[in-house]
Amino acid sequence: MKMQPQQLMEMKGVKPIPMLTAYTCPVARGLEQAGILVILVGDTVGMVEMGFSSTREVTIEHMAYHIGAVRRGAPNTHIIGDLPYRTDRTPEEALTHSRRLLAAGADSVKLEGPKLEVIAHLVANEVPVVGHTGLTPQTAKNFAKVGRTEAEAARVREEAQAIAAAGAFLVVLEHIPYELAAIITAELPVPTIGIGAGPDCDGQVLVINDALGLGDYWPPFSKQYAHLSRSILEVAETYSREVNSREFPNNIIPFARSGSE
Ligand code: KIV
Repeated sequence: MKMQPQQLMEMKGVKPIPMLTAYTCPVARGLEQAGILVILVGDTVGMVEMGFSSTREVTIEHMAYHIGAVRRGAPNTHIIGDLPYRTDRTPEEALTHSRRLLAAGADSVKLEGPKLEVIAHLVANEVPVVGHTGLTPQTAKNFAKVGRTEAEAARVREEAQAIAAAGAFLVVLEHIPYELAAIITAELPVPTIGIGAGPDCDGQVLVINDALGLGDYWPPFSKQYAHLSRSILEVAETYSREVNSREFPNNIIPFARSGSE
């Protein structure tokens, strides 16, 4: 059954929350079958699937397209849709764009940084909101860890508290020192979801392409559970060799797709 924000909040201190990103229908289907409680359709889609060099090129139309595909693959999973860069500049703009993502199939939206008025406005209009602090890629100059100095740590800590107080039901903590994430997790009333923020967060999120080993760069905090880029290379090389030798399509065991003969 699809998890509601309240149920996710009640998991704090009880059970860790596993979250993964997804951008396509078949991947979402696999995540739902595996019992992943929450899927994030992140604007990382721009970098890991669309070949952009940052998340800033992602549009609301891109997000709606991918959220629709993920919803068709995972009809019973809570889906968070990312509000793309500059679609949340004012509370009204953010509400219009959030409604677009909800109509596409999202159950909640995520936005980066301490946009407290925006968060409060969305929540007042019945849009469940996930906050995001620490490294915030839409505005970051680089992907270095955030919160290593005392002043920066205090800023991240205050931001996390303010985001939760404004009404966010989850707060993503990205690429911050583990001890800082532990402090924030202990003092926040809502679950924290870490990515590169250590083991003490209430949940963890990974970009699915990183976990699958699908790409050519993986952040230092990700773990590759598979090596799909290597598999693609091997499949393409073998296929090419077999076409050249005419081994394919001879000697294949027929596989009937439903609806085909
Ligand atoms: O866009 C995204 O995938 C994210 C995760 C890195 C948390 O925001």
